[in-house]
Amino acid sequence: MKKINIAIDGPAAAGKSTAAKKVAEKLNYIYIDTGAMYRSLTYKALENGVDVEDGKALAELLYRTEIRLMSGECGQVVFVDGEDVTGKIREREVTNSVSAVSKHRTVREEMVKRQQALAKGGGIVMDGRDIGTRVLPDAELKIFLLASVDERAERRHAENLAKGIPSNLNELKREIEERDRLDSEREVSPLCKAKDAVELDTTHLGIEEVADKILELAREKI
Ligand code: C5P
Repeated sequence: MKKINIAIDGPAAAGKSTAAKKVAEKLNYIYIDTGAMYRSLTYKALENGVDVEDGKALAELLYRTEIRLMSGECGQVVFVDGEDVTGKIREREVTNSVSAVSKHRTVREEMVKRQQALAKGGGIVMDGRDIGTRVLPDAELKIFLLASVDERAERRHAENLAKGIPSNLNELKREIEERDRLDSEREVSPLCKAKDAVELDTTHLGIEEVADKILELAREKI
């Protein structure tokens, strides 16, 4: 069977990673969470006191940083220079600085290079903000996932509570809106739908339904 590449883009907390993981599992493809790569660099920058506004220093830090994404029994595990940072890169401090780090051209160029190398063999489900537009412009299937801000904040809030992480719904909503604004307004590869992407509004859909719709579209291409 032909192995295709699937690009999934969309705003923060639209359900991209959960859907992408399910699709990859069903097709026996590799899932790559590019947001985790930007989060990993952000984590390392904060740990090392590197200014998130300094693109040159961030790129230099990235060149000497090894980021590894591996699938473990409980989902994806992320290593930065051998340290398991899976939980740490989801913390609020990283989340609220990641858009500043990811806006720099120097950082994006290196990340895109790494992401394209990972996808070379096909059979990849990759999610992010610029996958269909920049990283994998030739992906056989491109999906743009959307959901209302209220719905996205509520989903993230429920997820936090389930994990025992303190959570404030209104604050989450504000933070998600701000991250969307920064990611959409930045100069280099802003969040936007590729012309040939299929738009799916997940506001009233369960995660299984979203994954099933993507699988249906994927099977038409395989
Ligand atoms: O997907 P996630 O919300 O974990 O992504 C974290 C951040 O990483 C985004 O808000 C965005 O600033 C950045 N990002 C990006 N390009 C990607 C993936 C993520 O700029 N392809």
